[in-house]
Amino acid sequence: MTKPETPARARPERAPAPAGAGAEPAGSPGGAPQELRRRYTAADLAVFTREEASRFVPQGDGDPRGDAALAWELLYRLEPELYDRLASAERLHPGVVSWLPRHVDQIAEVGAGTGRLTMELIGRGRRIVAAEPALPLRRILRRKLAAADHGDRVQVIDGFFDQLPLPGDFADLVVACSAFTPSPAHGGEDGLAEMERVCRPGGCVAIIWPNHLDWLATRGYRYVSFPGPMSVEFASVDEAVELAGIFYPQAAAEVQRRGSRKVPFEVIGINPPRDLAFKVLAG
Ligand SMILES: C[S@@+](CC[C@H](N)C(=O)[O-])C[C@H]1O[C@@H](n2cnc3c(N)ncnc32)[C@H](O)[C@@H]1O
Repeated sequence: MTKPETPARARPERAPAPAGAGAEPAGSPGGAPQELRRRYTAADLAVFTREEASRFVPQGDGDPRGDAALAWELLYRLEPELYDRLASAERLHPGVVSWLPRHVDQIAEVGAGTGRLTMELIGRGRRIVAAEPALPLRRILRRKLAAADHGDRVQVIDGFFDQLPLPGDFADLVVACSAFTPSPAHGGEDGLAEMERVCRPGGCVAIIWPNHLDWLATRGYRYVSFPGPMSVEFASVDEAVELAGIFYPQAAAEVQRRGSRKVPFEVIGINPPRDLAFKVLAG
């Protein structure tokens, strides 16, 4: 994403690694494309809880047609299955998952969504807590965990970056994927401080598919990127065409012309989820 306030789908503000990308929450250049923003109106903002509204529409009003971050938040609440289809297609680079610490005691994930990362964390920690503010996404994540027989391995809770209902020094790994931005609504200074509060000394805070690399670097975060070709892997050609029309309109004609369910990220024009920024807290 290119807008600062839109989580992981932006180009990083600098290209730190050879095959550079990075991400706003989850993927398209310029935040939410017009096709996504057009799906919602100001009347839809009523779906927000009081806690959500205080972060996403602090002035009490907003226009999802002109505010990419708001359009994404409405997508999560009004069409969560549509979002899940997109996130399922934009798979993480296996190097990112392998890089994360394994055999740790406790892991906290923030902005877990429908579990793109959460499902990969199973087996890495004795106990995993996945915080996600959007109730419809929590429901999908719980359903997926139950279907995979992992309902008892992961505790799915409500929570925001800047207010995590977890004790200090709780986790060995505190991680967010395609969710954190410097904007106060999606993390910001308070959110980063809260992630670090929940991380134990010697533990690791990791921001996967980061945007705003300079912002993170000035706060002591180092950058890792994993090379190799990456494609968005849709379930079918029909799904590729449908979802490209909504989320990657700039590439929709090319996706249709190719007629493949796999579409290279270069064709779509967004940074692949191949990177992360991390900080190991002083022990
Ligand atoms: C693009 S989705 C990514 C979800 C998931 N981590 C993934 O990779 O598929 C961004 C997520 O951040 C969550 N989010 C937005 N604002 C948040 C906040 N202030 N605190 C915690 N999570 C937030 C959204 O509800 C959504 O689940």
